[in-house]
Amino acid sequence: MTALLEDPAAAERWCAAQRAAGRSLGFVPTMGALHAGHLALVERAVAENDATLVSVFVNPLQFDDAGDFRAYPRDLAGDARLLETVGCGAVFSGTLEQFFPGRCASATELEPGAYVDPGPTAEGLEGAHRAGHFRGVATIVDRLFDLVRCDRAYFGAKDFQQTLVVGDLARRRGGPAVVVCPTHREPDGLAMSSRNLLLTPAQRERAPAIHAALAAARERWRSGERDPDELASTLRARLADTGLALDYAEVRDPRAWTAHAPAGPLERAVALVAARAGDVRLIDNLRLDGEDAA
Ligand code: PAF
Repeated sequence: MTALLEDPAAAERWCAAQRAAGRSLGFVPTMGALHAGHLALVERAVAENDATLVSVFVNPLQFDDAGDFRAYPRDLAGDARLLETVGCGAVFSGTLEQFFPGRCASATELEPGAYVDPGPTAEGLEGAHRAGHFRGVATIVDRLFDLVRCDRAYFGAKDFQQTLVVGDLARRRGGPAVVVCPTHREPDGLAMSSRNLLLTPAQRERAPAIHAALAAARERWRSGERDPDELASTLRARLADTGLALDYAEVRDPRAWTAHAPAGPLERAVALVAARAGDVRLIDNLRLDGEDAA
């Protein structure tokens, strides 16, 4: 049975009881509308820990666009049913006020001193295109880590830059261990995302062009290209005329994050794309050097 905990305070008590019973605790933070990619994170957490907890919270602090926040899919009852099938111990949600009692400035904002600085890996790409996004992510993840005090927390590699921000945050705090799991893809290559539910059939047909462009950049890497600008131009050429509006298509050294394109040649590389199909913003990335998340 997956326990449906009524609020963050109940989750804090549930986690404290697990620790008191000597159980290791795995945690999967999500914004819900769970798909196979999320369930794979939960399955890994269940396999590696004595107890596993999932949070479902569409965090207003990390949306720079009120329309995107409103449109984000929500289905807590469906999520709870899915979590049951993978042996998840408990799930919880809450309101912003329940997560940050007495520290909210409105239903979607905190008082200025309540935010957590996301650090230097928040600069560039997602950070540049979504003002305040990583500050919102770091703030909620820090709060969630305080509440659950888990041993391991699981994140998907699709949000590559987020894994860097969260990894830094966990290091600064002295834990938990951050486990990054591979991106799950549809058979045509499209990275699984809750936002895929918002695509029209025509947009859904165009969306796999993102993965095709990433795969083309990986082919160039495999044939010896190491210059980040050259690799990025392959991405952009493959995404031109696809009907997708590009926010960015860039290449970075995954271990030495830079806000701007690094000077080549690179020893390691990750290609990252953000593109819009209508109002739906999709992101994806691929390690060109084959060192994907394990
Ligand atoms: O990746 C997500 O779904 C969110 O950014 C997270 C980590 C749950 C924080 O709200």
